[in-house]
Amino acid sequence: MRVAVVGVGAMGRIQVDSYLDDDRTAVRGLCDISAEALSEAARRCPEATVTSDLAVIATDTSIDLVSVCLPHVDHVPTATTLLEADKRVVLEKPIAMNCRDAARLLKASSARPGALVVKSYLRHTRSCQLLHAAVADGLIGSPRLVTSSFASLRRDEGVPRWRLRSEESGGGALLDSGIHLIDFLHWTFGTERTVTASLRTDESGIDLDDVVTLEFEHGPLAVITLTQRSNVSGPCFRIEVFGDSGRALVETTPSGEMHFRAEVGTERRPDRIEAGWWLAAHRAALGTYVDRVSRGEPFDEENPEDAALNVATVDAAYHVAAPAGSQ
Ligand SMILES: NC(=O)c1ccc[n+]([C@@H]2O[C@H](COP(=O)([O-])OP(=O)(O)OC[C@H]3O[C@@H](n4cnc5c(N)ncnc54)[C@H](O)[C@@H]3O)[C@@H](O)[C@H]2O)c1
Repeated sequence: MRVAVVGVGAMGRIQVDSYLDDDRTAVRGLCDISAEALSEAARRCPEATVTSDLAVIATDTSIDLVSVCLPHVDHVPTATTLLEADKRVVLEKPIAMNCRDAARLLKASSARPGALVVKSYLRHTRSCQLLHAAVADGLIGSPRLVTSSFASLRRDEGVPRWRLRSEESGGGALLDSGIHLIDFLHWTFGTERTVTASLRTDESGIDLDDVVTLEFEHGPLAVITLTQRSNVSGPCFRIEVFGDSGRALVETTPSGEMHFRAEVGTERRPDRIEAGWWLAAHRAALGTYVDRVSRGEPFDEENPEDAALNVATVDAAYHVAAPAGSQ
C-alpha cells in the first residue's frame, strides 16, 4: 500500500518511521512547507515524491492513504482536500480548532463514510484498554468519580511556534493534551451533560494550567487537571476511576512505562506494566488503520463524529471558563 505523510515535523517523522517499518506500506509521498523538514524526511524515503504542494499528493492516484500531521489550523482544509480527492485519511488530533470547523469537516467526511480516522492514541494502549474494560465489564461496580491529569513541559525554546499562537493552535493544554483524556472519558462513559472549567492562561491567551469537570448523565463526575508547565519528561498522565465496588487506574512512570492497577473490594489484582507505551501506541494505531485499508474496509476506529464531540467539550470548557489568573 502506498502512503504519504503531510507535515513531517515531530509527529510526521514518527509516522514515517512507523510506515517504513511496516511491510505492508511504502512511503511514496512527503509534503511540507519546510525545506529542511522535507530533506530530512526524504533521506529516509528515497522513493518518495517530495513536495511543498498538497495538490501533488492529492492528485497522485497511486497513493492510497495519507497521514496529516500539521498544525491544528491546517487540519480541516487539508483533510477536506484529501477526502475530496478520494484518499483515505489519518488525521492527527484534534479534528479541528473548534466545533464550527469540525462541522465543516464532518460534512466533507459524510460524503465518504469510513474514509477518515482521527488518531486517538490512548485507545491503542493496552493499559487504557484494560481500564476501559474494567468499567465496561463492571469489575469495579458503578463508576462514581474519575480523577485524571496530564502534565507536560512547555519547552518554550523547543516547542513549535504555532503551538504558542492561538490562531494556529486553537488553544493550549486543554485542546492539545486534555483532549486525550476527554476522548478516553467519552469512549468510556458517553457524553457529559455539564462542563465547568477554570483555566490559567499566558499573555497570548493560551491556557497552560486547567481544571475541568465533566458530569456524566448515567456515569461519574470526572475531574481533568492539566498543566504544560511541569518539569516532567514526556507526557505524564494518570486516570483513576472509583466505582462503588473498587477502583482502577492507569498511570505513567518516569521510566516510560504505563501501569494498570485494579482493586476490587479488598483484593488487589496483579499490576499490568506496559513499557515503551507512547511510541507503541502510535504504531499500533497506524497498524490498525493500515489493516483496514489493506482489507478494503472502512475505518471502524476513532470516527470523526467522536472526534468532533471531543472538540465540542473543549469549546464548552473554553466558553464557561472563569479565568483563574494570568501570568
Ligand atoms: N498524539 C500525540 O501524542 C501527538 C504528539 C505530538 C503531536 N501531535 C499532533 O501532530 C500534529 C503535528 O504536531 P507536531 O508536533 O508534529 O508539529 P511540528 O510543528 O513539529 O510539525 C508540523 C509540520 O508541518 C509543517 N507545515 C506547517 N504548515 C504546513 C502546510 N500548510 N503544508 C505542509 N506542511 C506544513 C511544518 O513545516 C512542520 O514540519 C498536531 O496535530 C499535534 O497535535 C500529536
